[in-house]
Amino acid sequence: MTALIEIRNASKIFGGKSRFGKDQQGTVALNDFTMTVHDAPPAITAVVGESGSGKTTLVRLLLGLTTPTSGDVLYRGVDIRKLSKESHLSFLRDVQTIMQDPYEVYNPFYKVDHVLKVPIDKFKLAKNPAEAQILMEETLNAVGLRPEDTLGRHPHQLSGGQRQRIMVARALLTTVSPFTTAPTANGSVANCRSCSPSSASSPRGAATPDPVARWNGG
Ligand SMILES: Nc1ncnc2c1ncn2[C@@H]1O[C@H](COP(=O)(O)OP(=O)(O)OP(=O)(O)O)[C@@H](O)[C@H]1O
Ligand SMILES: [Mg+2]
Repeated sequence: MTALIEIRNASKIFGGKSRFGKDQQGTVALNDFTMTVHDAPPAITAVVGESGSGKTTLVRLLLGLTTPTSGDVLYRGVDIRKLSKESHLSFLRDVQTIMQDPYEVYNPFYKVDHVLKVPIDKFKLAKNPAEAQILMEETLNAVGLRPEDTLGRHPHQLSGGQRQRIMVARALLTTVSPFTTAPTANGSVANCRSCSPSSASSPRGAATPDPVARWNGG
């Protein structure tokens, strides 16, 4: 079975070269890290580690926001740097993140509806504005928010918890839409259905995060 997402022997070293191309001592943020996430059976894997051990670097690699110094990140068996346009869209849809500080994700000039409307439009989750409205309301209800208390407001008018829950709702959108026809696999980085770490070792000076907890959702 092809893994949903896989990080294979990945290392990330920051600052290994000076601005003039000279070798210099770099910071090993991640060292020879391997982890596999399947889309079934459902499971949760928690990656824990001391501050500076590379957790954020790992997530940035998995999202394709940074490239590994060595090693590979694969989505359904394909290097995420070499995905076709179609597969890249499917990757963006399958892998959802919920940021630690959701305030940074919001654009203060937009109402919070915007963070829900963008994925609905992008992934064509609704056929018209009425369906989009129903979908937003159902998803907000699913995370324990009252649409009338949240939609139409700006981020600063909500509590930190409400802002965070809206981001959870956003991550759920691609899986709960009753209006979509395409199947969704959703192996989220924040809430992956199945993760099976196969190896992890420590970089110099810091402990690389360990995917320690494996929970099979059944
Ligand atoms: N852009 C960067 N340039 C240079 N060094 C970096 C960069 N990003 C991270 N580092 C270094 O890489 C190491 C891992 O950082 P990372 O942010 O992944 O840690 P973390 O486990 O998420 O820490 P925390 O729990 O504090 O959020 C740290 O030593 C950090 O200083
Ligand atoms: Mg971090």
